[in-house]
Amino acid sequence: MPFVGSRFARALRVAATLSVVSAGHAQPPPSAADSRPLVTIKEVMEQTITPATNTLWGVPEKPTDEEWAALEQASITLLVAADFVARGGAGEHDVEWARNPAWAAYNAAMTNAGLAALKAARARDAAALLAAGDVLYPPCEACHMQFNPGVIGEQ
Ligand code: HEC
Repeated sequence: MPFVGSRFARALRVAATLSVVSAGHAQPPPSAADSRPLVTIKEVMEQTITPATNTLWGVPEKPTDEEWAALEQASITLLVAADFVARGGAGEHDVEWARNPAWAAYNAAMTNAGLAALKAARARDAAALLAAGDVLYPPCEACHMQFNPGVIGEQ
């Protein structure tokens, strides 16, 4: 076959090498810990959602290529975090919160704003990004008011 020296053959060789390598480093068997969330809602709020929203709420007037990339990354970070928030984390009340329909509604509003931000960042549309930022804030405040009133004054 004329394809033997092709990219396909090379990919097969790489795959074979990788399977040898991974066989040599067998993973430990799964344990109960694997299915438990590893971080808390509070940690995600502080370490993921807060930096991402700081970026999204600070859109420069004329973002550079690098700034557009950071805005896209922040939107994706927010969406990943919202996905986590939907399920609840390792905190004491996290799972109980996540089961509440009001929680799901606030999180859905945050998710929709995140999707709008991602679309705007990819379209490099600063006005649409500012609009997404405006609808992003109310679900933060409303959810904190209902589930953790102490948080309100700290933002
Ligand atoms: C679905 C509900 C919900 C949404 C939406 C939400 N939060 Fe939170 N947030 C919480 C809860 C509950 C806590 C408290 C967690 C705890 O103490 O265990 C919290 C805590 C925080 C904290 C930590 C403050 C502190 O000292 O405890 C920050 C910062 C924060 N949120 C920022 C945000 C921002 C910014 C947004 C919007 C982009 C947002 N949150 C959206 C529920 C939410």
